[in-house]
Amino acid sequence: MREQWDSRTAFVLAAIGSAIGLGNVWRFPYICFKYGGGAFLIPYFVALLTAGIPLMILEFSLGHKMASGAPTSFAKAGRGKEWIGWFALLVAFGIVSYYAVIMGWCFNYFGYSFNLSWGDATKDFFYNKFLTISEGPFKFGGIKPFIMLTLFISWIAIVGCVWRGPKTVSKVVYVTVLLPWLILIIFVIRGLTLPGAVKGLSYYLTPNFAALRDIEVWRNAYGQVFYSLSIGFGIMIAYASYLPKKSDIVSNALIISLADAGTAFFAGLAVFSTLGYYSYTQGVAVPDVVEKSIGLAFIVYPTIINLLPFAGKLFGALFFLMLLTLAIDSAFSLMEAGMAGIMDKWKVKKRWAINIGFGAIAFFAGIIYTTRAGLYWIDIVDHFMQNFGLMTVVLVECIFLGYMFKLSVLKEHCNALSDIRVGKWWDICIKFITPLVLILLLVFLIIEKIKGAYGGYSRGAEFLGGWLILIVFFIISIVLMKVRSRK
Ligand code: TRP
Repeated sequence: MREQWDSRTAFVLAAIGSAIGLGNVWRFPYICFKYGGGAFLIPYFVALLTAGIPLMILEFSLGHKMASGAPTSFAKAGRGKEWIGWFALLVAFGIVSYYAVIMGWCFNYFGYSFNLSWGDATKDFFYNKFLTISEGPFKFGGIKPFIMLTLFISWIAIVGCVWRGPKTVSKVVYVTVLLPWLILIIFVIRGLTLPGAVKGLSYYLTPNFAALRDIEVWRNAYGQVFYSLSIGFGIMIAYASYLPKKSDIVSNALIISLADAGTAFFAGLAVFSTLGYYSYTQGVAVPDVVEKSIGLAFIVYPTIINLLPFAGKLFGALFFLMLLTLAIDSAFSLMEAGMAGIMDKWKVKKRWAINIGFGAIAFFAGIIYTTRAGLYWIDIVDHFMQNFGLMTVVLVECIFLGYMFKLSVLKEHCNALSDIRVGKWWDICIKFITPLVLILLLVFLIIEKIKGAYGGYSRGAEFLGGWLILIVFFIISIVLMKVRSRK
């Protein structure tokens, strides 16, 4: 019999753990601030309702009905469609290869917080002492041994968490989901009680409705919803395949999606109230200190930790521990999805061997990010995987399941199990709204790329870190589909 979760709670926590990750803590608050503050919640909820939740229900239904990981689920749904599952897993692999590196940085910074080793010039420390970043993507300048070591530790931890599959995961998630929530609550309380907090929050939430006319805003809302909910990565398909025969699908999908969105919003309170404090003590405006993504955690937060009136070191250590526990269950969810894909197709018995093999390949793939040029490559790969990789997977998924397969089969399966039933609107979201929005967004992205290489990098770097990886992933997916399975 197929392996199963220990309980419904274990499943819900595991899926929430996958969804809640680094993306919630700095990406959501940052995007919200940049694209309209409080008004951004509108496109965000539209995206959540028209795309996020319907697709989560779709992936759960598919995985549960077919009782297999993503590749085999797609293969069972239609001839020659197995590659969609592999491609989804590979894109997720592209993401986790650098995600684990950022986890490694968190390990480093966790250690640094015990004596605030970053000093006063946190920006200089991050770029010039910690990463010793080179002048450009092709100036590799050697590996940073400490970062490579912590990358190695990350992978050992990830492999350990999925050692016996859902059995191990069922236990681990109680820690990796509940602990960061607890720490986040501490940070919200700490943030709101600091002077200047209100000013920070007003930047976060003051609505700017004019922003809603900008297509860029909508693109970010949809992108954030998919990325954050771990949809289009084959993860939710694999996780649902471990559910017992009788399991409510719709209410699980609702709980998980709302918990993810709620956590993102809540994290914004912690981040922006603290930024308000920073602006208050330093006499700078809040928008000037908000840095996109990575810098926020490794530059702005260390500065704030330096400034805290008491227990700075403790809060520092807690902060990086929170990031670590947030990230690890997203990382191992992908690994579990990959394992399901391999084990379902080739019926391998030696789980430990694939565990170690998978971890080793992912570790070696990540070494490029531990060089002095690593940050550039993280930036490029992240952009392409998240935008082109993820959006294509979701688009193909909608088109295939919506048009070349009887969507009603999945709908009946889902409705037979769920208390809340899905109706016509669900079909409309999957067949029309989501694909249309995605096609529009992809067209815009492509036009943007024709105009100039991403982020001002050279075309060569853009090709290697972006297009080439996507092409190679596509070819590998086709090859994996063609390889005969063992019955
Ligand atoms: N959901 C995660 C977050 O919000 C990101 C994520 C999606 C991810 N898919 C992944 C991370 C696959 C690692 C592997 O941060």
